[in-house]
Amino acid sequence: MSTALFMNGVRRRIAFKHDATLIRRWMSVRPEEGVVSISRKKVTIQHLQHLRKIGQPITMLTAYDFPTGRACESHHIDITLVGDSLAQVCLGYDSTTRLSLDEMLHHTRAVARGSKAPLLVVDMPFGSYSPSTEDAVRNAVRLVRDGGAEGVKIEGGLEVVDVVRRLTSVGIPVMAHVGLLPQRHTILSGYKVQGRDAQSALSVLQSALALEDAGAFAIVLEAIPQALGTYITRRLRYAPTIGIGAGSQTNGQVLVWDDMMGTWHGHKAKFVRRFGDVKGEVDKGVKGYMQAVRDRSFPAPAESYDITPDEWNKFLSLVEGGVERTDA
Ligand code: KIV
Repeated sequence: MSTALFMNGVRRRIAFKHDATLIRRWMSVRPEEGVVSISRKKVTIQHLQHLRKIGQPITMLTAYDFPTGRACESHHIDITLVGDSLAQVCLGYDSTTRLSLDEMLHHTRAVARGSKAPLLVVDMPFGSYSPSTEDAVRNAVRLVRDGGAEGVKIEGGLEVVDVVRRLTSVGIPVMAHVGLLPQRHTILSGYKVQGRDAQSALSVLQSALALEDAGAFAIVLEAIPQALGTYITRRLRYAPTIGIGAGSQTNGQVLVWDDMMGTWHGHKAKFVRRFGDVKGEVDKGVKGYMQAVRDRSFPAPAESYDITPDEWNKFLSLVEGGVERTDA
């Protein structure tokens, strides 16, 4: 790094020493030490089955980037899910059906850098597992090999049983997802509670049983009556159920990060509980910052750097003859 000055009418190039140090010091955002190393014992499928057996609820939370992945790591979440809710909560799409595999991969890599100990499960985006089972294998392999996923999640019932069986047979653990299927909100005419009549409840149960038989290592139950959530949980032989709007008796619970943290104050599904008020904090922070910049109370002298009077006077005499602008 250098700049050109005129000293006594002569153009001189002044080079700064320790450029790398200067650049590092100027960064206001520096990675914390040691965040990428595993901070506890790795969560395995066997461990999840153990939790199910001893009746300890499994905690699953969505994450979409490095900081949310890291939060799952450091707060001992059991399963980190890179959910395709990513489409709406991070990317501003109006539906999960708009999310591409490449977008999912990009975010999965970021989450994987922060979330080491939790089992890392990634949603297969809409259309990435339906054309054929071989497409499903190819796309799931990309999520595992290029993204760092340890398992994939697939929405659907009896129609995805073959995909679950095939993925499991090539060594990719599959988490099934039955009940409300957000990827099918159009054909379902909205985001509606499922299994509310006997026939529909039976169909959710049959799907869950068939998916377990096909090898699913866990099953998400979304937006179904709590009695049905409890019943399915008891009927399954080994696969833990992870509920989201399926009552308190499933083997675990999952929530969408943004719902749980209250990053917005809009529509709240009945099953959502806000454990934080991030939107309130964001509003407060942005307003406070804007006001402080405008009234010049930010930055305060204590937030600014000084130069000794001696050096400042030397600087003034250096620039006295004028300073030439340089491109470099
Ligand atoms: O995409 C997602 O976040 C999910 C959870 C709601 C289970 O699938």
